[in-house]
Amino acid sequence: MTAEYLEKLFGLTGQTAVVIGGAGVLGGALCRGLVGAGARVVVADMTEEGCKARVEELEKLGARAGFCIVDVTSRKSIEELLSTALKQAGRVDILVNCAGINFGSPFLEHPEGQWDRVMAVNLKAVFQACQVFARHMVDAGGGSILNIGSVSSHLPLSRVFAYSASKAGVMNLTRNVAQEFGTQGVRVNAICPGFFPAEQNRRLLDQQRIDNIMQGTPMRRFGEPEELVGAMLLLLSPTAGSFITGTHINVDGGFTAAWF
Ligand SMILES: NC(=O)c1ccc[n+]([C@@H]2O[C@H](COP(=O)([O-])OP(=O)(O)OC[C@H]3O[C@@H](n4cnc5c(N)ncnc54)[C@H](O)[C@@H]3O)[C@@H](O)[C@H]2O)c1
Repeated sequence: MTAEYLEKLFGLTGQTAVVIGGAGVLGGALCRGLVGAGARVVVADMTEEGCKARVEELEKLGARAGFCIVDVTSRKSIEELLSTALKQAGRVDILVNCAGINFGSPFLEHPEGQWDRVMAVNLKAVFQACQVFARHMVDAGGGSILNIGSVSSHLPLSRVFAYSASKAGVMNLTRNVAQEFGTQGVRVNAICPGFFPAEQNRRLLDQQRIDNIMQGTPMRRFGEPEELVGAMLLLLSPTAGSFITGTHINVDGGFTAAWF
């Protein structure tokens, strides 16, 4: 297989991608994958510090990258993100929804405020960002959206009640929005990652839980963030992924394939 053939199949040269949550651990790997495939990236996240650090990293890789501070719990902020991205790049071909938070507790002690917070960042924000960006993509003649679900999109994970419900919602929404835009050139898909070393995980995982995860993961290890990139490029590529919409790829070392 020639490099030219692979570039034709998976390359994103000339495309602009907005990565919400791009300063995070998994978002960072997705940004690096996007620039590796030739896309221009707009890093969108909560803090200037986080965004700038990511942009510097991408520029060292030779990429054209910009950033925009966003709070995805605010529709106005998402609309401003779109305007900023359009000022920086002229159009947006790709949206990656990779912001997320988690909260764990026994069910009876789960505070209502944490339920609302997790739902706002993990689910409502995906709804709002899909709405704001899909409108632009339809007007611009097409585009592709990638949402980040989780193994908990399929299997409720104990103690993370709001998180699991939000990620199940992300998968349902992904399928539904994909139907809406099926004939308008906008494809909508998701990646459902298994367990990856990241800050939000470290806070929640004690040794017992890590042992349980390893037991449930046929490959008996955590994923590496860069292991998400291949699935992302397949789903986002207008060539390789041209007839793929409303679905997901589990990148989870077999976690969702195992039944005990
Ligand atoms: N790490 C894992 O094992 C794992 C597994 C499955 C799914 N996920 C999902 O992958 C995504 C990325 O997670 P990660 O592990 O890289 O975590 P992370 O904490 O490193 O990244 C999440 C990013 O979201 C940003 N964010 C949070 N609230 C925001 C808001 N209101 N507005 C804008 N940005 C906001 C954070 O600033 C952070 O940069 C999340 O959706 C997470 O649920 C992670």
